[in-house]
Amino acid sequence: GSGDHVPVLVIGTGYGGAVTALRLTQAGIPVAMVEMGQSWTTPGSDGKIFCNMLNPDGRAYWLRTETDQPVSYFLGAPYNKAIPSYAGVLDSEHFAATRVYQSRGVGGGSLVNGGMAVVPKRWYFEEILPQVDADAMYDVYFPRANATLGANSVDPGWYGSASCYQYARVGSGQAGDAGFSTVFVPNVYSFPYMERELAGSAPRSALASEVIYGNNAGKQSLDKTYLAAAAATGRLSISPLHKVTAVAPAAVGSGYSVTMEQLDTSGTTVAVKTVTADKVFFGAGSVGTSKLLVAMRATGGLPDLPDAVGQGWGNNGNVMVGRANYLWAPTGSLQSCMPVRGIDNWDDPTYPCFAEISPFPAGTELWISLYLAITKNPNRAAFSFNSTTGGVDLGWQASWTQPSITAAANVFDRINKAEGTIYRTDLFGVYRTWGDDFVYHPLGGCVLGQATDLYGRLPNYPGLYVTDGSLIPGSTGVNPFVTITALAERNIENVIVNDFG
Ligand code: FDA
Repeated sequence: GSGDHVPVLVIGTGYGGAVTALRLTQAGIPVAMVEMGQSWTTPGSDGKIFCNMLNPDGRAYWLRTETDQPVSYFLGAPYNKAIPSYAGVLDSEHFAATRVYQSRGVGGGSLVNGGMAVVPKRWYFEEILPQVDADAMYDVYFPRANATLGANSVDPGWYGSASCYQYARVGSGQAGDAGFSTVFVPNVYSFPYMERELAGSAPRSALASEVIYGNNAGKQSLDKTYLAAAAATGRLSISPLHKVTAVAPAAVGSGYSVTMEQLDTSGTTVAVKTVTADKVFFGAGSVGTSKLLVAMRATGGLPDLPDAVGQGWGNNGNVMVGRANYLWAPTGSLQSCMPVRGIDNWDDPTYPCFAEISPFPAGTELWISLYLAITKNPNRAAFSFNSTTGGVDLGWQASWTQPSITAAANVFDRINKAEGTIYRTDLFGVYRTWGDDFVYHPLGGCVLGQATDLYGRLPNYPGLYVTDGSLIPGSTGVNPFVTITALAERNIENVIVNDFG
């Protein structure tokens, strides 16, 4: 409640926040978490907590009156649809030249993501974060993250004939035809559960077009792993539908004063509260944390934050693309929403590219191969406070995706050539091949060792820490949540030893 004093407050319940909460509570320290989204535990009138991708309703989007699908066109027409405005689970946050997809809810991005649990290539990790001891990361923290996240792998034998992975087998075969290698990708979705879905002995989730608006079963999201373990200590409290708006040194005594708005499910502020905390961990995600800190520096709450706060944001080189297959290469009407195969061209010296073979879960045969490519895009944007609107802008420019398109085209042009096929130009606009105006993997904004010390401490403000994807310098070469989780594990271990004596 307002006026409370807590030892530790964590802003956001995604990967960084959840790791921090688990390790602190296990160390005997009570933790209060604040999350702007809902706690997704109560079924709606249809008996389900989340809606699927074929029939989106208000639960799908954070305060939008129309869906804002990543693949938002089909056969020359937009196919977004009207929905009631509600505090739904997926936010499409619009900046001047890009849309950033993020989750709103207890569990952060784990609620809506594809569950792909990928450890980055060691040589690339050493390149992006050279000050971090790679031995410790690869021997201790990546394994710890994967184990606690529940990462598991598809049984290759089952995969080889499962109808729901025909799209992945087609995509892998075509990549092979063009000379590219493909790899299995671990996932946090339970593959034993998925096998039961396909066998008809468990309710379908991944096989029922559920993913970006949440999964009703099978997915080991953070609320079932890190956060459940933290709650089991008896030392965790979570306040959903509370949005932090300000953090500043407490007027009296030590610690920080944290201001938050309590929201109802229509997004209306129903109360404003202020609590004080000895220590505050920013786990609001790359965009959420960067926006809060940039606003606090500009408006006087935290004026002595370094210039590097708000810098170094990148989109992990994300770009999406679809290919049209011939009638004799069907991709399947039943597609698992959890990707398990990636085209691994990351070691290409000129155009590194790691492309996930994505589902197109339309529930009907469409002969489409869809991919989310991750490329090495050197462009980095900054967040800046806009004194006119009082908001925070992101200076990403539309043309900055060109290096990503070039690297992805290097792969998919070759696949098209090998197969005699063409791109779909109807999925991301009218006659538009590349889905390059949105991002699933926002990274950076408070880069480790630049905006913070080497463990996430913010300079000049003892007791303030950054713990999420904003620490990663814009790129990690693969889907990012394992990197975010492992780095948070490493950082909190050091902070517990040195700052909680
Ligand atoms: P994260 O975004 O998870 O959590 C931040 C939390 O803070 C959110 O719950 C937010 O509501 C809350 N918050 C923000 N501002 C706040 C405020 N002011 N007050 C209170 N709370 C606030 N990655 C991967 O590795 N494999 C994959 O398969 C995928 N797939 C994928 C699909 C889709 C559709 C998306 C959108 C994303 C992915 N990702 C992914 C990316 C992955 O989900 C993402 O990198 C992580 O969730 C980021 O973790 P963080 O801890 O940085 O923040």
